[in-house]
Amino acid sequence: MSEEIVLPEVELNIYSPKDPTEVTVVENYICTIENSPNFVRHLTFDVSGTDLEGRVRVGQSIGILPPGVNEKGRPHKLRLYSVSSPTKGENGNSTLISTTVKRTIEEFEGKLYTGICSNYLADLQVGDKVKATGPSGRRFLLPQNANDFNYVLFATGTGIAPFRGMVIELLESGFKGDLVLVFGCPYRTDLIYADFFRKMEQKYDNFQYITCISREDRRADGSKKYVQSSIEDCQDQLSPIFEKENTLIYICGLKGMEAGIYQNLAIQGFDEYLVIKPKLETIAPEDWKWEDMKRNVKPSTRTFEEVY
Ligand code: FAD
Ligand code: A2P
Repeated sequence: MSEEIVLPEVELNIYSPKDPTEVTVVENYICTIENSPNFVRHLTFDVSGTDLEGRVRVGQSIGILPPGVNEKGRPHKLRLYSVSSPTKGENGNSTLISTTVKRTIEEFEGKLYTGICSNYLADLQVGDKVKATGPSGRRFLLPQNANDFNYVLFATGTGIAPFRGMVIELLESGFKGDLVLVFGCPYRTDLIYADFFRKMEQKYDNFQYITCISREDRRADGSKKYVQSSIEDCQDQLSPIFEKENTLIYICGLKGMEAGIYQNLAIQGFDEYLVIKPKLETIAPEDWKWEDMKRNVKPSTRTFEEVY
């Protein structure tokens, strides 16, 4: 690696669950392209008058304390949400912080369960007050010397949130390196912020937006197209960037997505993004088993992941 990666100093937990602050909703709208059954909303909070103002970096998360109590009668625990605005704030306004929230719904043994906090947030109206904590996260950040690198960002679902902020932050500050965003979702209607990313792709020659629609697109062998498929299928676009000494990889979204990315990077010979323990060094990456990978393949300093 030619350039040193210097991560910025960040402030952590200015507000804790015991001592949260209060922020006000200023917008709450659906950010998938059509009426998708995956309800994902863009929420913006006014944080003016709180110590969050100007002190939350892109890549960090804020905590939300939903009202009410759990089945044991204790207050609901906080849930984390990635900030989807750039460090300078939504629309460049340091008093505004955004996030991207998916309503979670699960059917289990014939009963429907709706997630406590995501549905609370999704139902909020402009003017409503919310208890917030944070910021949290000290590694999933853009380097301080951000313009010294190229970036390949992999997101599934709401993993797109930090990358919206990062793409804005990089491109709107004169970044001249290569920037690729690979986004995966089940159906075309589930694309999040698609119009925005397409516009950015038209505006900036150094930005590419690749989508992997798992239940609609098929690969040549008939299998599903996942974000990691792009490492093989979009080699013309991606390999020249992975080969550069100053490229960094960021991964955000579904827990487990990192394994497929690591395996495909190793198959293509991009080992510098990984730390591969001796146990796997003698096995061809094509034959790596999920269980072995969990313990024996880790991200290198050039790879950043936030999966949940
Ligand atoms: P919960 O009430 O916690 O329930 C979780 C799931 O279990 C739901 O799907 C619910 O339907 C199901 N469930 C509940 N009870 C039962 C039951 N009895 N049986 C079976 N199933 C049940 N999320 C985002 O949307 N956007 C983000 O930007 C984001 N960023 C994150 C960043 C980090 C670092 C982390 C750790 C998480 C992030 N998350 C994000 C996830 C978020 O924190 C929450 O976990 C998510 O919104 C679900 O919380 P909830 O309160 O809605 O669901
Ligand atoms: P699928 O569900 O078709 O298997 P969302 O959060 O909106 O549900 O989207 C998550 C996306 O990530 C879906 O397209 C899902 O595909 C895909 N996905 C599921 N498992 C993995 C995995 N292990 N690696 C990468 N992508 C995955």
